[in-house]
Amino acid sequence: MLGTAKALFKKVKRRSWMKFALRGVGGNDNFERLDLAYTLEDPWNMDSPTEQARFEATNRLIEREFDHVDTLLELGCGEGHQTACLARVATRTFGLDVSAKAIERARMRLPQAQFAAADVFHQPWAGEVERFDLVTAFEVLYYLGDVEATLARMSQLGRACMVTIFAPAARRVGPHLERIPGLRKDWIWHGGTVWLVAWWRND
Ligand SMILES: C[S@@+](CC[C@H](N)C(=O)[O-])C[C@H]1O[C@@H](n2cnc3c(N)ncnc32)[C@H](O)[C@@H]1O
Repeated sequence: MLGTAKALFKKVKRRSWMKFALRGVGGNDNFERLDLAYTLEDPWNMDSPTEQARFEATNRLIEREFDHVDTLLELGCGEGHQTACLARVATRTFGLDVSAKAIERARMRLPQAQFAAADVFHQPWAGEVERFDLVTAFEVLYYLGDVEATLARMSQLGRACMVTIFAPAARRVGPHLERIPGLRKDWIWHGGTVWLVAWWRND
């Protein structure tokens, strides 16, 4: 009973916080407020069974389509919850996020990966990795000011790219994806939640 009440309080607190922190953030490159969101630990509840199911399903798709990759760059890695899962399908894992608070926690979660607080236009590994085998953006495209430019940059950086979007947002973000030559798509389902997964090869 006490456990249920505590969980409910935590959920209400997180939701109220995110409603405030993410005001005006969609489609705006609002890096300051994205960093503010991470004042609360795990603001997107990535530890939840639903998100963990998404991580596992995404890994299965990566394995099916690309087997095991050598280098993987994750755009919008947050605190590294999904990075920890992606590290199982990649030899070397790199994570970027515009939130310095999130990157600090990601480094603690996954010391063997490399992380940087930057966007995809300022990734610091150009001298180290010529081209990544796979560049991903999972649950990130909603926050970008220029989705097309980011998708084009991902394609420059990676031999292949993969993104996921929460199905209700597909109407807004989907048209940008449809313009990519050779785009392939699938769906991830968990309970009542659905995500679109899209991927493409660049060579
Ligand atoms: C919903 S979280 C997704 C975290 C993780 N990819 C996942 O699916 O578990 C979105 C993350 O994208 C980051 N983000 C938003 N815009 C970004 C950008 N232009 N470059 C890098 N990261 C960005 C946010 O700071 C946030 O950590």
